[in-house]
Amino acid sequence: MKKLISFFMAATMMLSLAACGNGVSQADTQGESSVTSVSSETSVTTSSEEVKNEDNKNETSADTTETSVSKAEETEPEEEALPEAYLSEIYATHGLKVGTCLSPNMLNNSVNVKIIKEQFNSVTLENDMKPEAIINKTESVAAGNIVVSFNSNAKKMLDFAKENNMAVRGHTLVWHSQTPQWIFYEDFDTKKELVSREVMLDRMETYIKGVFELISESGYEDMIYAYDVVNEAWMEDGSMRDSLWKQTIGDDYLWYAFYFADKYAPESIDLYYNDYNEQYKVSTLTKFVETLKDDDGRYLIDGIGLQAHLYTQDNLKSYLKAVEDIGKTGLKVQLTELDVCLGAYQQPQKNTDTNLKNQGQWYYELIEGIFEMVDNGTITSDALTFWGYADSLSWRSTQYPLLYDGQKKPKYSYYGAAQMKEYAGY
Ligand code: GLA
Repeated sequence: MKKLISFFMAATMMLSLAACGNGVSQADTQGESSVTSVSSETSVTTSSEEVKNEDNKNETSADTTETSVSKAEETEPEEEALPEAYLSEIYATHGLKVGTCLSPNMLNNSVNVKIIKEQFNSVTLENDMKPEAIINKTESVAAGNIVVSFNSNAKKMLDFAKENNMAVRGHTLVWHSQTPQWIFYEDFDTKKELVSREVMLDRMETYIKGVFELISESGYEDMIYAYDVVNEAWMEDGSMRDSLWKQTIGDDYLWYAFYFADKYAPESIDLYYNDYNEQYKVSTLTKFVETLKDDDGRYLIDGIGLQAHLYTQDNLKSYLKAVEDIGKTGLKVQLTELDVCLGAYQQPQKNTDTNLKNQGQWYYELIEGIFEMVDNGTITSDALTFWGYADSLSWRSTQYPLLYDGQKKPKYSYYGAAQMKEYAGY
């Protein structure tokens, strides 16, 4: 067990009694599938995504101004433990990379940069490799087919990862949300008809091929070890989510997305299907991945990404059982967007010391369970990603889901995630 050093310093544990914000469980969006336009020309979303978009507002604001979650109360100086090993070192002993999502705002602050560099060895761009960020409208219209390019934020973050020897998860290619609507219409004009299946398949192939070419040409190929080819295509009731990809191509758009990704991605990049509420979709996902094979029965997919947007009142045992069952497919499994809010959906809890301790224990037992399954070969995994590191930078900032508080001090949850039980709130 890691040896600890300790020292005296003024602790600034967050003790605010500020009410938690709106809890949003994606579980509770079950069965909703109506297609709605968020901003008429930019994105496609479903009503479940509208619920998520409430939180995305936080995400956006977190991206520009760090959210002031609550005022920290000064407390008497107390003993604070410092880890001897960083998360990246601890996770490496189980063969795992450990990641955070990354927004441009995080790189403008030296404290963030220091913590990210010390603790993590993998990053996922929070927004800047999503379809709406990467598909270039001007160039697509001029070319008559989808053209992709990196915006300056994406380049800045990918260069940061490269300079600091960090690995990158690509996120994401085919999604119903944060995707420009115009790509589905004749002449890229939303006033015209949706294109035919053949045209959309051609656009999909051009898009996916273009992304992998762009990555190689830009010198980022070696850093990227995994890519979310499709995000969030299934509902909790086992039905396929409605989307313009599905409407234009048909249900086999999912197979084609993986077929094209397999065709154009470098061998070194693992191809993932990524989804939320995974604990309610086990049989849907395990059946689905069996369909992702070529004529020779070879898988077109390498791994299943479990977003792991969880709550401290979720049933941890059931969650770990779901991970185990998904792992039985034999594909790699990664927790890709882990955060654990205080409380339950629509029953957020305040960030009292008791609730934060409970969160620390929850994180401890979750990570302990994942490490056990990795170590004994029940699941195959090579990385685990947190959806950020500090509460104030989280898309669910009002529910205190992460490892550090708004003052960038480690919470009990940090020690839980670091498997330092004696500091994790027990
Ligand atoms: C999903 C996506 C993430 C992020 C979150 C928050 O989990 O995969 O990229 O957008 O929603 O909205």
